[in-house]
Amino acid sequence: MRALLTKVEQASRLDRTGDRLQRAVLATLRPRRLRDLLHGVTLGHPLHPAMVQVPVGAWISAAVLDLMPGQRRPATVLVGLGTVSALPAAVAGLNDWAALSRDQRRVGLVHAAANTVGVTLYAGSLAARLSGRHGVGRTLGFIGLSAVSLGAYIGGHLAYKQGAQVNQSISELHRMSDGWHSLAEMAALPQRTLVTREVDDVSVILYRHGDEVTVMLERCPHQSGPLGEGEVQEIDGHACVVCPWHGSAFRLNGGEVVQGPSGNDQQILPTRVQDGVLQTRLP
Ligand code: FES
Repeated sequence: MRALLTKVEQASRLDRTGDRLQRAVLATLRPRRLRDLLHGVTLGHPLHPAMVQVPVGAWISAAVLDLMPGQRRPATVLVGLGTVSALPAAVAGLNDWAALSRDQRRVGLVHAAANTVGVTLYAGSLAARLSGRHGVGRTLGFIGLSAVSLGAYIGGHLAYKQGAQVNQSISELHRMSDGWHSLAEMAALPQRTLVTREVDDVSVILYRHGDEVTVMLERCPHQSGPLGEGEVQEIDGHACVVCPWHGSAFRLNGGEVVQGPSGNDQQILPTRVQDGVLQTRLP
């Protein structure tokens, strides 16, 4: 299975279909606020993994009830709940998928295909149960559960092996040593300008506003874009750094993500000024 998924990562034959679907997703989910909502920007965490809890939980519960006598009605209700709730979860997943890198999109396409088969089987299972053919409904439900379980396995590969929608910058902290690190003379720091510095070999950005200075990891949590090369923009009344790669924006006074495709906040580091020198350390 691992070797197969590695081949899928490199399967450029999937790109034509993937590129078409990506264009369709971007054309359909046009309003930025809708895309941000689906990315999980308001939560500070990706929304899709949370949303899939409902269909998966409902379908597994229905499968358990299908193995027990006299549980046709609650099993039918759960299959219906799972099938209906899978649709918004799929929309959130497609929205995340459209902002992934090419190798991630290839695996994401197979993940989506397995889940589409699963949802279709569950829709058939629901129709069969509602028309009184509970034996057929049960069988379709068990095959559907197998398909969505395969989809979940592939989704695990996408998230944990390929790092899709996982915070790409936070592991930088593991390369920083303990204690305070000197960054710059306060007197030499320009106002309202992004400045890039290194702590050990970890890149951070500095942003001074009056006597307040923000120190933030430089690698974008989405896909490691260089925030130090981004622009500072005022969004919803807050100064934010906008990533030059795909436009994610993070508040410079707290690190909260205010604009996707990143669903994760950016890490801010503590600061102090000692003898006119700005210092930082691990949080
Ligand atoms: S790397 Fe994609 S938004 Fe920054």
